Amino acid sequence: MKFLLKPTEPSKLSTDLLIQFVSEGEIRKLKGFSQEFISIVKDAAQREIFEGKEGQFLIVSGLGKIEPYKVLFVGTGKIENVDYYNLNKFVSLAIKKAQSLKPVKISISVADFWINKLSARETVKGIIEAVSLSAYKFLKFKGEEEKSKSRPIEEVVIHLPPNKLAGGESGLAPGKITADAVIFARDLVNEPPELTSPEFLANTALLIAKKSKGSVSVKIIEKGEIAKLGMGSFLGVAEGSDKPPKFIHLSYKPSAVAKKKVVIIGKGITFDAGGLSLKPAEFMETMKLDMSGAAAVLGIFSALSALGPKVEVVGLIAACENMPSGRALKPGDILRAMNGKTIEVLNTDAEGRLTLADAISFANMKEKADEIIDLATLTGACMVALGQEIAGAFGNDDKLLSKIEDAARSAAERVWRLPLPDDYKELLKSHIADIKNVQAGRYGGAITASLFLSEFVGKTPWVHLDIAGPAYEEKDTPIAPYGGTGFGVRLLLSYLTGL
Ligand code: BES
Ligand code: ZN
Ligand code: ZN
Repeated sequence: MKFLLKPTEPSKLSTDLLIQFVSEGEIRKLKGFSQEFISIVKDAAQREIFEGKEGQFLIVSGLGKIEPYKVLFVGTGKIENVDYYNLNKFVSLAIKKAQSLKPVKISISVADFWINKLSARETVKGIIEAVSLSAYKFLKFKGEEEKSKSRPIEEVVIHLPPNKLAGGESGLAPGKITADAVIFARDLVNEPPELTSPEFLANTALLIAKKSKGSVSVKIIEKGEIAKLGMGSFLGVAEGSDKPPKFIHLSYKPSAVAKKKVVIIGKGITFDAGGLSLKPAEFMETMKLDMSGAAAVLGIFSALSALGPKVEVVGLIAACENMPSGRALKPGDILRAMNGKTIEVLNTDAEGRLTLADAISFANMKEKADEIIDLATLTGACMVALGQEIAGAFGNDDKLLSKIEDAARSAAERVWRLPLPDDYKELLKSHIADIKNVQAGRYGGAITASLFLSEFVGKTPWVHLDIAGPAYEEKDTPIAPYGGTGFGVRLLLSYLTGL
């Protein structure tokens, strides 16, 4: 897909489809077209009761009165909360509608209410992301018929007022790079779990380093060395699988001296069968998604050299499968994590926290991180609390949490802060080890999982994002079809480039 910026009057753009956003009531004051065309539009709006309410569409043919073959008016409702999320939402809704008309070339006329609130750079970046992500499809395993059915949009012209063109230009590359990084992560999640093994993730990381022109380096830590490092908790989970675990270490260094080192950690369970605490079949159907955190970290690293943030970034993925077998971890087993703490495993399906315990310990002990941020499809309980579109945010540092919330807003991704009450640690007390991996009782599972992780962060400022809900769509939505969403990529790229 090619993106271009043009200052041309929208009515003079030669295109299959012009997308024009109108707020409620704005259609009555329509400008920028000939009087003749405006009266055609007003007549159509009246007949079809199009008032510009949110979710309303009106399609009017150019009829040779203007250059665009068709115009799609998209209602945005009352303009109250104009922000990146709102831009993202309406552009993706418009693209979904536009796709049904099968255009090859489209033009998007940027609404004044966006450009007045967001900068031209942010607006262009947001449009590119929303168009690319809502047009995304994973068709690798579909037949030719299905592939030829979808006629991809080839060219997108973004129309801006002439004085906003220079600002808009500067949003082109970041928009494209960010969208590609999200798509990179989506593809990884959507691939079947037999392909996306720990070794495959390791090779993917190596490939990212190779393409980075020297700014990203990757080290794969193999089983023997993992054991020497004392990562007994991670190895315990990996034990049940025939596939060897990989501890993937990525490092990005900016060209100038970095002021800060941020460690990002992605949960990398390439398939979560539950281990001996086996999941029921229906719960296992989507468990290839359990490496979504890892996919996001890899997506982020695929973009770092091109975006060039000014901080040092380390990416860590403790990659393995969680399988039942004769060698598998048993309920009742005790593991020793890298920081020396002993863990009584009572449910082998609470495996993510076991692998993260060692990755977080590594970040704290070996990397001397200034900040640790982890992304993990950690608990079904977080989905019960926040639903499928919002990630839970936990942490030990209010300032860092606020910065992550800001980054989410500026990236059209949704997070919500949840508490880490000290007294709930009581629920994780073990009779014979320092801590147990599942709580007593049923309630507050996302919180106790986070409290478990907090045992390994030391004093380092840390944020944990439980992305169990938003990492994967179980239905088609405007911004993402069924499958992996690449959640977290935009949020963390926005955070890192803003530092
Ligand atoms: N990977 C799952 C969590 C999950 C569930 C992610 C659904 C995405 C969608 C995790 O490893 C798990 O199995 N968690 C258990 C924890 C329980 C045993 C304490 C859960 O949430 O049920
Ligand atoms: Zn599990
Ligand atoms: Zn899991």
